[in-house]
Parts: sequence; structure tokens; C-alpha cells
Amino acid sequence: MKKSTAAMFAAGVSGVMVGLAMLGAADGGSDQTKPRYTADGKLKTIDPEVFRDWVQLGTPVTPNDQNNGEAAFPEFHAVYVPQWAWAEYKKTAKWPDGTILAKELIKVGDKKAPSGAGYFEGEFNGLDVAVKDKSKGPEAPGNWLYYNFNHGKPPYAAEAAAQPKANCSSCHESNAGPEADFVFSRYYPKVKAAAAKVKK
Ligand code: HEC
Repeated sequence: MKKSTAAMFAAGVSGVMVGLAMLGAADGGSDQTKPRYTADGKLKTIDPEVFRDWVQLGTPVTPNDQNNGEAAFPEFHAVYVPQWAWAEYKKTAKWPDGTILAKELIKVGDKKAPSGAGYFEGEFNGLDVAVKDKSKGPEAPGNWLYYNFNHGKPPYAAEAAAQPKANCSSCHESNAGPEADFVFSRYYPKVKAAAAKVKK
């Protein structure tokens, strides 16, 4: 009795796995932790339910209140990286080829909470992504290409073309610089701590 239940369960599981594998194939590859491109070379979006479960590096905020009412990005910037790339970073203090950094913008909501006055996260409001891909950006600084999937509420765009250098890369190049691999790690204490541990 026990044995047959186990056998039935195993059959059910393998049926589901076959189903999943077929879905993956139809979609042209379902692993969203690596960059996926359309036939014409645009980056496919990442499902928010997927990237919000990645490792969160930090969440800077540049509120309008402190930028004369006109911050370029007045939201919180929640930055995520897939688990595999973070594990690699912790070993080497380098972002491996194929790394995706997803930055979701989240509006400032309440400015007062039981804990005090401040800035509290409100609504989701946009998605910026940086991808390190040698094959797509052999000439780009650090092989990073930058993409914008909307500056507004979800659903975000399904695909995006790489942004011209002046829009994104030039600021990362001159302000984060090659020593930080063009990533603003100085605002992510967790990244700094991991790098310090490798270099010790
Ligand atoms: C004027 C400078 C500037 C420009 C232009 C700029 N960024 Fe950034 N970016 C920053 C800074 C500073 C941070 C870190 C602090 C923060 O989020 O406010 C950052 C963080 C990021 C991150 C998180 C990873 C990291 O490098 O720290 C991503 C992803 C990102 N930007 C993508 C983009 C994209 C896509 C564009 C163009 C559409 C863009 N950025 C344009 C300054 C800039």
C-alpha cells in the first residue's frame, strides 16, 4: 500500500517535470537568472515575482524633498542580484559574466510612521536593469549594458533595447568607476563587506 502510493507520487512528480520542461522549451528558456534576449537582441524582462526573491543589495532613496522637488528618480531604488551571481561575488569580489542587477523603483509613501518621521516605501514605480554580458557589450565599460523597462507602475515592458551610453553608462563610468566595476557598491554595505572578506 505504502509502496504503491510512493510510486504514484513519483509518477506524478515526473509528469509535472516533463510538463515544466516542455513549458521551458516553448518559452525559449525559462531561467530568468541569466539574461534572455529576443531574436532582435533586446533584453527580455524579468518577472517581478522572480527578481524580488533575489538577494537584495541595498535600497537608496533620493526623495524630491531633498532635491528641490525634482529628483531624477525620486523613489527608493531596491537593487537585486540573482543568488548564483552573489555566491560568485562572495568568492571572488568580482561580478561574473551574465550578472543581472535589477533596480526596482518604489515611490515614497508615508512620511510618518509609529517609529517616527521618515520615508516609507509606497508603490512600485519602474524597473532599470544592468547586465554584464561580454558577448553583447564587448566594448562597454565592464561589459555592462543598461536597460529601462518603464518609469511607471507595473506591468513593466516585456523587452527593452540597450540604452545609449549617454543615458546610463557614462554616469556609472565616471562616478562608480572601473575600481568598483561600474557598480555603486559604496552604497551597499553588504557588497563592501563581502569584498573586504575576499581581499583579507
Ligand atoms: C547621473 C548618474 C546616473 C545615471 C545617468 C544613471 N545612473 Fe544608475 N545609478 C546611479 C547611482 C548613484 C546609483 C546608486 C545609488 C542609487 O540607486 O541612487 C545607481 C544604481 C543603478 C543600478 C543598481 C546597481 C549599481 O550600479 O549600483 C542600476 C541597475 C542602474 N543604476 C541602472 C541604470 C540605468 C538603466 C540607467 C539609464 C536608464 C542609469 N542607471 C542611469 C547613477 C546613475
